[in-house]
Formats: sequence, C-alpha cells, structure tokens
Amino acid sequence: MIRKQMVQPLETERLQLRGWKRSDAPQLYAYASNPNVGPKAGWKPHESIAESRKIIETVFRESRVWAIIEKTGGRIIGSIGLSEDRLRPGVRSLELGYSLAEEFWGHGLMTEAAKRVIAYGFEYVGLDVMMIRTGEENIASQRIIEKCGFQYEGTLRRIYKIYDGTIKPVRCYTMLREEYDSLRHAGVL
Ligand SMILES: CC(C)(COP(=O)(O)OP(=O)(O)OC[C@H]1O[C@@H](n2cnc3c(N)ncnc32)[C@H](O)[C@@H]1OP(=O)(O)O)[C@@H](O)C(=O)NCCC(=O)NCCS
Repeated sequence: MIRKQMVQPLETERLQLRGWKRSDAPQLYAYASNPNVGPKAGWKPHESIAESRKIIETVFRESRVWAIIEKTGGRIIGSIGLSEDRLRPGVRSLELGYSLAEEFWGHGLMTEAAKRVIAYGFEYVGLDVMMIRTGEENIASQRIIEKCGFQYEGTLRRIYKIYDGTIKPVRCYTMLREEYDSLRHAGVL
C-alpha cells in the first residue's frame, strides 16, 4: 500500500494544480453537473452543490486529486488524480484519472496536466507502474493516453458497472518506471 500524502501544488505552462477545498464545491458542480462530462468517465452527473461538496470530502480526500486551475482566468476547470490501483495489490502502482469542463476541451490542456502528474507519480511518489483505464468510445482520452506514452495492455470485457447499471468493457494501459525514464529522456514527458 502506498502511503497517502497531501497533494502538493504543481504547475504547468497554462495550469496550476492544487488540492481541493470544501469551498470549491460550486466550481466543481459547474462542470460536473454537465451530462457530457461524468458519464464518459463512468460517474453520474452531480445533482447539487451539496453533492459536489460531499465528493470533495470523500472521494477526493481518499486519493490524491488536484483541482485544475487555468492561470489566465483563475477558474477551476477540471480535476486530475492518482488513486489506488486495485488490479495490482502490493505493487507500487497508482491509477490516473481526469475530467475537464466541456468548454475547455480540445486545447491540449489535459495532456499538459497529465504529463505533469505522471512526472510527479514517478519522481515524487516513487511509482514503479502507472495505470489508466478508459472506455472504448472515449477517443479523446485514448489520444491523451497515447500522447503521454502509455502502453496498451488489452481490454477487459464486461467488467465495469457504471452508475446507471450498464456493464462496460475497459481498455487498460500502463507505463512502467523504465518506460517513464525513456520518455523523459526522449522529451515526450
Ligand atoms: C477526455 C478529456 C479530459 C480530454 O481533455 P482535452 O483537454 O480536450 O484533451 P487534449 O486536448 O489534451 O487531447 C485530446 C485529444 O483527443 C482528440 N480528440 C478529441 N475528440 C476526438 C474524437 N472524437 N475523435 C478523434 N480525436 C479526438 C483531440 O484532437 C486531441 O488529440 P490531438 O492533440 O492529437 O489533436 C475531456 O474530453 C473530458 O473531460 N471528458 C469527459 C471526462 C472523461 O472522459 N474523463 C476521462 C475518463 S478515462
């Protein structure tokens, strides 16, 4: 088991990443209530600010989850996090996950955030593996995963029961420590 630490602030060219606060609930609700966002990642759209606050206090506290803030407007526009890799008990591995407000899609922002969190995972947490899973229809997420240099491992069929009861297949990808080192060396990360 990898010891949980407080998330430390991170920065990229266009973004600041910091831990979530209870008072961020209205900003989380603003994008997480959009039905085009959560279901693509398997979660139900938030129905109230109170529900968003509860997610901050429970789900986000149990993992390392950052709020993504765009530097120009100072607004929270998404989240990115590392959570327990339940497929690899006893291995120094965490699972990457993310979501972004719809009006900010298509500008390379999540790829930028993901590359920063990948570096944090291998260099600061000392991971041996990072894992990410995504739905078959989620082409945008698959592109991010490819651009970051993860390796496709295979698809687990009829595995993931989402909030509405549907059971979906998931595509699984990993990056090993030595692959991270090579990608860093090659300037991909
Ligand atoms: C997935 C998500 C985070 C992408 O964020 P983003 O900042 O737009 O991603 P980026 O711009 O960094 O990269 C997206 C890539 O997918 C491509 N893309 C997006 N939609 C596409 C589509 N329908 N077909 C083909 N390519 C597509 C983009 O062109 C871009 O690739 P490129 O840089 O080669 O042009 C955002 O769409 C989102 O929050 N979706 C809902 C939640 C979610 O799916 N979370 C992930 C769960 S695994």
